Amino acid sequence: MNIRVTRAIALALLLGAGTAGAGVVDELLADYQSAGAGPFDPKAGAALWLQEHPSPEGPRACSTCHTADPAAEGRHATTGKPIAPLAPSARPERLSDRKEIEKWLARNCKWTLGRECSAQEKGDLLAFLRTQ
Ligand code: HEC
Repeated sequence: MNIRVTRAIALALLLGAGTAGAGVVDELLADYQSAGAGPFDPKAGAALWLQEHPSPEGPRACSTCHTADPAAEGRHATTGKPIAPLAPSARPERLSDRKEIEKWLARNCKWTLGRECSAQEKGDLLAFLRTQ
């Protein structure tokens, strides 16, 4: 890659870092797409959000902690602690930090599904959550 292209990308990242959620989610979706996933479907994400997965302690879903409505306040299934709404409409700082999104998707998919989510599942979930 030549130096001008590298600088243009660095500048774009720098500018992007200051902007709101949409940019970060777009970046992640583009990454999942280059991993072979997509197109992403908010309806599939909504279905996955509510889908229950068996566990020895009973069925688990994203909505177990975050409620069926991502714009509502949640409650942690094991600690009982309140969880602020995930929907950017209710809490604009949501889905604006790439590391935060990836960290929690990894952790929450393992707890909920018993495994990591695929790139397709993560893309569908983010496509759904960003519209909430
Ligand atoms: C056991 C409870 C629990 C379950 C189940 C759960 N989450 Fe979470 N989730 C959390 C907690 C705790 C946080 C971090 C605290 C916070 O950000 O308010 C979080 C944060 C997140 C974030 C970070 C958002 C941001 O930008 O700050 C995303 C995205 C997320 N969860 C998605 C999901 C998805 C998708 C599922 C289902 C696969 C799911 N969660 C299931 C507890 C849970």
